[in-house]
Amino acid sequence: MRRIAAALLAAATALTPAVAARPVSFANAAPQASGALVLPLGNAEELASRGGSLDSGTRDAIGRALASAEFDYKEGSTLSLRGIGGWSQIVVIGTGSAPLTAAKLQDIGGTAATETAKTDGPVTLLANGLAANVPDAGAQIGIGAELGGYTFDRYKYRDAAKPRAAGRDAPLTIVGGAGGDGYAAQPAALTEGVLLARNLITEPSNEVWPEEFVTRTRAAFRGVGNVTIEALDETRMRELGMGSILSVGQGSKRPPRMLIVHYKGGSGAPVVLAGKGITFDSGGTSLKPGTGMWRMKGDMAGAAAVVGTALSLAKSRAPVNVVAIAALAENMPDGGATRPGDVVKAHNGKTIEIINTDAEGRLVLADAVSYGERRFKPAAIVDIATLTGAVGGALGSDYAGLFANSDPLAQQLSAAGEATGEILWRLPLHANHAKSMKSDIADIKNSAEGGSPGASLGAHFIGYFVDGGTPWAHLDIAAVSWRTDALPTVPKGAAGYGVRLLDRFVRDFRPVAGVAPAASSAAN
Ligand code: BES
Ligand code: MN
Ligand code: ZN
Repeated sequence: MRRIAAALLAAATALTPAVAARPVSFANAAPQASGALVLPLGNAEELASRGGSLDSGTRDAIGRALASAEFDYKEGSTLSLRGIGGWSQIVVIGTGSAPLTAAKLQDIGGTAATETAKTDGPVTLLANGLAANVPDAGAQIGIGAELGGYTFDRYKYRDAAKPRAAGRDAPLTIVGGAGGDGYAAQPAALTEGVLLARNLITEPSNEVWPEEFVTRTRAAFRGVGNVTIEALDETRMRELGMGSILSVGQGSKRPPRMLIVHYKGGSGAPVVLAGKGITFDSGGTSLKPGTGMWRMKGDMAGAAAVVGTALSLAKSRAPVNVVAIAALAENMPDGGATRPGDVVKAHNGKTIEIINTDAEGRLVLADAVSYGERRFKPAAIVDIATLTGAVGGALGSDYAGLFANSDPLAQQLSAAGEATGEILWRLPLHANHAKSMKSDIADIKNSAEGGSPGASLGAHFIGYFVDGGTPWAHLDIAAVSWRTDALPTVPKGAAGYGVRLLDRFVRDFRPVAGVAPAASSAAN
């Protein structure tokens, strides 16, 4: 009986995808009143133009409601009305008076999706004349709607006799917004990349472990052109001298993998994106406290971001050459686990004294970045990781931490952050970090006595393994990858942070000058 139940559950969960947001479509003229209407407005006067296609009775009723509610038209303000015209719901979204950016348009789309989530019927969003300065304004709203409307209910009981109201899956139609024609080509690929990342992050660690991460990634890329996928297993990693990632995975029954997704849509040296992929971080022998440990199922958000970015670029056939490396391991404390004090050797030959097995992200990334640099001779390396609790102490959950050995590379990343709303704040690397991570018996320790400044020390450690003079940056997303409060385009939970940012960064990337190679040992 229990076996049957388990088999049924397995079959059900295998077949039930996370529910997608409403499909996005585009139109030039407003359809007939039905379902919900969304009206973005920056001031009272815009009602006449943007709502020009509405009948005058409806428009006047909306105007009276806005006046009597003293609606302020500020960015993000909303007013939900019912019982007007043929609409079951009318949502006015304030857009403020500043020029709208792509990121703000996405926020409008996200707000539209969440405010109308319970409407049983289609949603019509009037975007005519909105943000004339953004060439694909309508498409940006569509991206935001798909991202803001994301839910993950794969493990929720669903009564087959009572299906979800079909009207909740009816389309969200963006009327008069630019960029709808090309939506399928690029914006839809971007949301697919973000949603792949969110799903991987949200899945519990008994469902997604290193090998399964590889399987899911292969499935997501099936049929996508110009992509090669390799997954290095333990034997291959041993041959390649990747003792650092192997040491992290050795305490788990689920072996580590180094996943390499190469999308070659352009020529020239590739950009390498390396992601921390700890499918669960118990801390290992340096065990974490129990409270909140469950969140460490999402300690692979960096890896999810790099494969999500590659998916977006590949599916939209971007003319870029990019290599996503996901350094995958489960950090567990069994009898074979690494002990504090153990010394291991990374791919580039440098030795590491592991002072704390909970500082494992930098260990898997040490092999990922040194392998990426040696094999692909990239134009730049960007690693992304839920690396330290300390970064949240410094920056909160508004900015991800940015570290770089190249100012122009840091500038390109910051610009991509501003453009996409996944914003970055640069934090320092300092020569003294090498001193505090100096080991008496190996080339470097993986953490320092006292551990301060935590985020910078983690960054320094990873940079120490980029030793061929390649421009390199590190993004610490520990405090932004999982949200406890929703944003317009990010529901509570997995943000998929970094896909929008890195997608933009890679598309716009311009090669920068090489840097002085990192020291060959922490001592010098
Ligand atoms: N995965 C954690 C960092 C983290 C903390 C991510 C909270 C998301 C939320 C990382 O592996 C870790 O344990 N870092 C340690 C480093 C320390 C041992 C040097 C930390 O931040 O305490
Ligand atoms: Mn850890
Ligand atoms: Zn970790």
